[in-house]
Amino acid sequence: MKTICYVSNFSKNLTKESIDNLINLVDTRNNVNDITGLLIVRNKQFFQILEGRKAKVDTLFNKIEKDSRHKGVIKLLDVEIDGQIFKDYNSGKFETFQKYANMKKLYLYFNWIKNAEYLPANEIIQLTTNFLKQNP
Ligand SMILES: Cc1cc2nc3c(=O)[nH]c(=O)nc-3n(C[C@H](O)[C@H](O)[C@H](O)COP(=O)(O)O)c2cc1C
Repeated sequence: MKTICYVSNFSKNLTKESIDNLINLVDTRNNVNDITGLLIVRNKQFFQILEGRKAKVDTLFNKIEKDSRHKGVIKLLDVEIDGQIFKDYNSGKFETFQKYANMKKLYLYFNWIKNAEYLPANEIIQLTTNFLKQNP
């Protein structure tokens, strides 16, 4: 098992419609592939956490990195994990956050996973919180 976390910027021509399409695709595909984590879309930036089987996450990230819908991908975290931190959240359903109301849900959830046994939990909370601070 592993987790990868990254940030990136929208590519220039990204329309609202193509973002909606992307979110639908991501949610559906990740649930089928047992990839957990989250995608935050704010201020023309993406912030994503992916967790799952090592080969699956690496293959997926290689694809994502080359996707022309975004640019300037910066990997923030790439580590092996004992288990998927996001597995117990909302039955492990992959979640995308775009509206501010949803961010509040995210903070409530973070308060809960602070007690998770899996090591990168606090690091992931820190990275996500920093991203949200820069994109209020
Ligand atoms: C910001 C961003 C995040 C993405 N996240 C995922 C993801 O979590 N899961 C996924 O299957 N595809 C994701 N994609 C889409 C992939 O890059 C790729 O288009 C998709 O997996 C279809 O690949 P395929 O045509 O080779 O099957 C993302 C794309 C972007 C731009």
